[in-house]
Formats: sequence, structure tokens, C-alpha cells
Amino acid sequence: MTPSTTSLVGLRDLDANAIRLLLDRAIALRARVRAEGRIDLLAGRSIGLLFMEPSTRTRFSFEMAARNLGADVLAMSAEGSSTTKGETLWDTAKTLRAHGADAFVLRHKCVGSPHQLARRVDVPVINAGDGINEHPTQALLDALTLIDHFGSLEGRTIAIVGDLRHSRVTRSNAFLLPRLGARVLLAGPGPLCPDGMTALGGPGGGVEVRHTLDEVLGEADALMMLRIQRERMAPGMLPSDAEYAALWGLDARRLAKACPNVIVMHPGPMNRGIEIASDVADGPHSVIFQQKANGVAVRMAVLATALGAEVG
Ligand code: NCD
Repeated sequence: MTPSTTSLVGLRDLDANAIRLLLDRAIALRARVRAEGRIDLLAGRSIGLLFMEPSTRTRFSFEMAARNLGADVLAMSAEGSSTTKGETLWDTAKTLRAHGADAFVLRHKCVGSPHQLARRVDVPVINAGDGINEHPTQALLDALTLIDHFGSLEGRTIAIVGDLRHSRVTRSNAFLLPRLGARVLLAGPGPLCPDGMTALGGPGGGVEVRHTLDEVLGEADALMMLRIQRERMAPGMLPSDAEYAALWGLDARRLAKACPNVIVMHPGPMNRGIEIASDVADGPHSVIFQQKANGVAVRMAVLATALGAEVG
């Protein structure tokens, strides 16, 4: 995302400087909003929210981010919109544009839909999750949470564990984290860990695959647990939830084998008792609720940058 191309459709092509700029702006805006409350950086601007797939936290935090900066929100979701009557995404976007939307935030089940929309509209498009492809603002908020905790990502090892195949969070993090100097370990059951995932790290590498949770416990500074995404899964890909929890779930007994200062992350929504036990999710190593707060900070930075506002 540069001043000339203000859409944020993915992190694959965002270099370390552009990522750092967004994170610095997130930190600056978070401090300003904490000190001053709502600010008027985007006063008079309107953000069109197009959520064509269910979402609670991402949608809520984009809405909060827009309102914190003084922008108006024009919201449309799949239920209750004319898309259920066969209207195309393009028609829906044109309607919101006619009502004054100055940027779009799009969540859609189809890979590449934000890229397509960005080619057709004359305002910035921000990807809030496209199918199994990318979820750039989630990876940015994860990076911010890690930086808050460790100061820097340089030399840190971040393990991402679980349903890697269906996870746009994994893909965006595998692009981002190595660019800021971290090593990414991916671990998940065979059918959910497709071949070729190490290539996500790009020519510089930085992404490695492991085959059990126990293997990453001793190495990781952070454990990012993923939701089992049954809605995206072909039948027969997984045994029972109980068997998954026994092999791949993070519970207190397993956490005791991890590095003493490890932090535990999860993008939410959590399947408590499956990929993560409740006492771990709510325990002292968990930064899951900081992740949620950082979602607003990062989305403020992304919206302000997309609309060319002077963050200072
Ligand atoms: C993630 C998503 O939608 O990809 N959640 C989120 O944005 N809060 C992860 C998930 O659904 O498991």
C-alpha cells in the first residue's frame, strides 16, 4: 500500500517498509485515540462495509476504527442485502458508492474478490478476508501484538498450529512475519497442511513445517492456534473433535512443555476445548484479548492510509 495504490488486498506484495509504516501508524493512532477519544482525521468521509460472509470481530473492529476517526459507516451484509436476490457484488458496491462511500472494506468467500473489486471501483478496497486466500489486517494486528510483547520480531519464532489449509490468517502471517525478521513454524495434521507451504516465505525463506505440536512447543516464542474451519472442509478430512483435541489441542499440560515466556494467540472465533482449552485461552500466557484491541488500531491505520490522511 503506497500513496499511489491505496488498496490493501493482501500482504504478498507489501514490503517490510510498507508494513512497518502501517504498524507505526497503528501505534500512533492507538495512542491518540486513547488520549483524546474520537478524532476527526476522516471526518466527512464514508467507509462502505461489504461483509458477504459471517463476521463478528473483524466487522466490529473496522466499524470502531472508522468511527474513532470520525468517518461514517455505510454497512451492507449478505443477509438483508440485495445480493441474496441475485444482485452482483459490483452492483452492491456501485450502490454504496452512489451513497458516498469513499473506500470499501470487503469480506467475501471467493478468493480474489477484493482484487477484482479494486480493479473496478475508483476508491480504495481493503480486504477483510477473501476465502482461504488472505486476511491482511489480521496478520498486521498479530504483528502489532507480537511487537507490543517482544519489542521486535527479529529472531523470534512464531508457531502457527492447526487447520493451515483453510486459513487465510496463516497465509497473510507467512507473508508478513518473515519480512520483519521472524521465523514461522507451521504445524498441522497432514490433510490440513498442504505441500508447498514453505514457499509462502518467499525467496528469503523463513517458513518451516513441523509435524506435531510437541515439536514446536520447545522452539516457539508465540503459539498461534487456529480454528478448525469445518465450513471449508471436505468431509472426512478430520477424525472426531475429541481426537483432534487430543493430538493438536493446546491445554495446560502441553503448555507446561513450552518456553516459559511463551505467548498464546488465536484469531477467534475459538472452539474452546478443541484447538485451545479454556484455561489456556483465559490464562496468563494468553494475549488473545490484546489481539482484539489491536484490531481496531491496525484498522484505523489502514483506513487512514487508504484515504491519504496525514497521520503524523
Ligand atoms: C479469522 C477469519 O475470518 O479468517 N477470524 C477473524 O477474522 N476474526 C479466522 C477464523 O475464522 O478462524
